[in-house]
Amino acid sequence: MNLSELQQMATRGEKIAVLTCYDASFATLLEQAGVDILLVGDSLGMVLQGSGDTLSVTIGDMEYHTRCVAAGTLSAMIVTDMPVGSDLTPELAFGNARRLTEAGAHMVKLEGGKTDVVRRLVAGNIPVCGHLGFTPQSVHQLGGYKVQGRDAASAERILADALSLQQAGANLLVLEMVPAALAREITERLSIPTIGIGAGPDCAGQVLVLHDMLGIYPGKTPRFARNFMQGAGTVQNALASYVQAVKSGTFPTAEHSF
Ligand code: KIV
Repeated sequence: MNLSELQQMATRGEKIAVLTCYDASFATLLEQAGVDILLVGDSLGMVLQGSGDTLSVTIGDMEYHTRCVAAGTLSAMIVTDMPVGSDLTPELAFGNARRLTEAGAHMVKLEGGKTDVVRRLVAGNIPVCGHLGFTPQSVHQLGGYKVQGRDAASAERILADALSLQQAGANLLVLEMVPAALAREITERLSIPTIGIGAGPDCAGQVLVLHDMLGIYPGKTPRFARNFMQGAGTVQNALASYVQAVKSGTFPTAEHSF
């Protein structure tokens, strides 16, 4: 999997299946199930470290888990989150992104409309995935886990940020918890692929947190997630069923959308 293959998948309308992944054993299982992108998400702060949010995750944590995932991966693309505070300035971000690519990431993901940071990373040959809508590192500023872009002004802002990130050189864009109609419009307006999570069925691909789709997170499961373990029997079957549902467009449905 590489950038041009991703772009071609989006162009021919083949959905991109993405899951979060934090270790070598799951990396191998996800790849065998046909997952296209393994996202080493800073959600690991919640699902591995037991924190209530992603704010205590460090660049060292992300580097370590990227190395673990890379050890179990042959050909899937690895995208790793820049944790909070690691991308405050373009130079700081470049140094930290290098740590992640040296650990095995093919692309880094950063939250918000940080176009100056994106430009610096792209100039240094580091592919970038943006992340707009609900951005978990800003959970407190956003007043909790809330759908973003419901009113015209905030929808306009998200669309403008998406276009600016693409213009700055981003290769991929995650849209989290935005109305399905807004995600569809952004997907139509961009030439880079969009990956939705709680963003309706019309993005170029879908992502879920692994622990949510396996139904093993002890905390609250978001409405946009589906437990693919139900009736699957094995983890391998659940992963295959997720990939099949994303590729065939049967996940997400209206009940998982806003
Ligand atoms: O950290 C993460 O798992 C993510 C996904 C929710 C997109 O950013």
